[in-house]
Amino acid sequence: MPQPAAPASAQSLAINGGDPVSADPIPMISVDVTDADIDAAVRTLRSGMLAQGANVGAFEKRFADLTGAAHAIACANGTCALQLAYEPLIQPGDDVLCPSWTYIATASMIAARGANPVFCDADPHTYNIDVKDAEQRITPNTTAIAVTHLYGNPVDIDAIQSLATRHNLSVIYDAAQAHLATYRGEGLGAFGDAVTYSFYPTKNMTTGEGGMVTVNATELDRDVRLLRSHGETTKYTHERVGYNYRMTDVEAAIGVSQLDRIEAVTAKRRANAAALDAMIEAIPGLHPPRVTEGAQHSYHLYVVRMDLDAFGCDRDAFLEALRAEGVQCAVHYPRPAHRQPVFSEHGNVKLPVADRLAKTLFCIPVHPGLTQSQVNQIGEALAKVAEAYAR
Ligand SMILES: Cc1ncc(COP(=O)(O)O)c(C=O)c1O
Repeated sequence: MPQPAAPASAQSLAINGGDPVSADPIPMISVDVTDADIDAAVRTLRSGMLAQGANVGAFEKRFADLTGAAHAIACANGTCALQLAYEPLIQPGDDVLCPSWTYIATASMIAARGANPVFCDADPHTYNIDVKDAEQRITPNTTAIAVTHLYGNPVDIDAIQSLATRHNLSVIYDAAQAHLATYRGEGLGAFGDAVTYSFYPTKNMTTGEGGMVTVNATELDRDVRLLRSHGETTKYTHERVGYNYRMTDVEAAIGVSQLDRIEAVTAKRRANAAALDAMIEAIPGLHPPRVTEGAQHSYHLYVVRMDLDAFGCDRDAFLEALRAEGVQCAVHYPRPAHRQPVFSEHGNVKLPVADRLAKTLFCIPVHPGLTQSQVNQIGEALAKVAEAYAR
């Protein structure tokens, strides 16, 4: 086996014909806050209306329109959004199908509801839930399926909805990473019982912290709104138990301002991804992301898959060398949810694809702050590290 290149120093693998790479690595993420966002927040602060008010209503209306949903309910963060969506649709003790290959909240909020997450394997190409595997895990107690549009790549919604119809399941889609992704030409809000979003700073759009639930049924819209704010129907009349999961008007002002450019920002992510795809397709042993048929990806994360057999190193050593070339990179996720300590009682479930993805996937920058030359530099660095480690 050829010796892999020493991964340690930028000097040792410097690209551009041996020129030392810039001291500043290409960042993995950029938090996109403009003067317009800041002005909107300051105006709201000066107005004295800080808690949920008119900006929240305006943000909800525009977000619903943009995602193809009838109703949107803003809340404190994406985790609260999951709780607000799960509570009316899932009962304690229910079995709920969910992917193991996702961020922990999709599954842990099922457990927080007192229901049982039933972990399903991942599709080896799209990395989303494997719908056939999910069907085999249905029990008489299964009432719902919670699915993530992971990395911004929509799941095979036709297959999920058909499964749900055949087995009478509620469907909750976690679109925390998929603002403005589409399926068969429609926004993701058009599908399922509820869709949840996050506006955490690293997401495709941000409000600082923040979340949104979109629904199409009027009754569910009412349920979620009541849960968001102590079940309050009129001032100090509380119809049911609820929470304070409200979004502030300052956050909503930032959200409205961010919506002014989410389409342009998403287009830039897609253009960066297309350029990365072309470069990565030419590198033996590396695979660009595969977009679900009929879908438009929103590229929250750009995920590369490694054939471990093609390289004389593991994924983590590959990434160390990539960083030495001045390219920040990340692993989402180092382990599947069913292998997390919190779900130790699920450790024996067999999910071979999810286990393999934890060793073979990595993320490279795709954010809209990248210049064309940085995108090229990422491709060149990948090619150089891949060649150095090729078997
Ligand atoms: C898939 C997914 N679901 C839920 C969440 C939770 O969102 P938040 O951090 O806003 O609570 C995240 C955030 O990283 C996520 O990526």
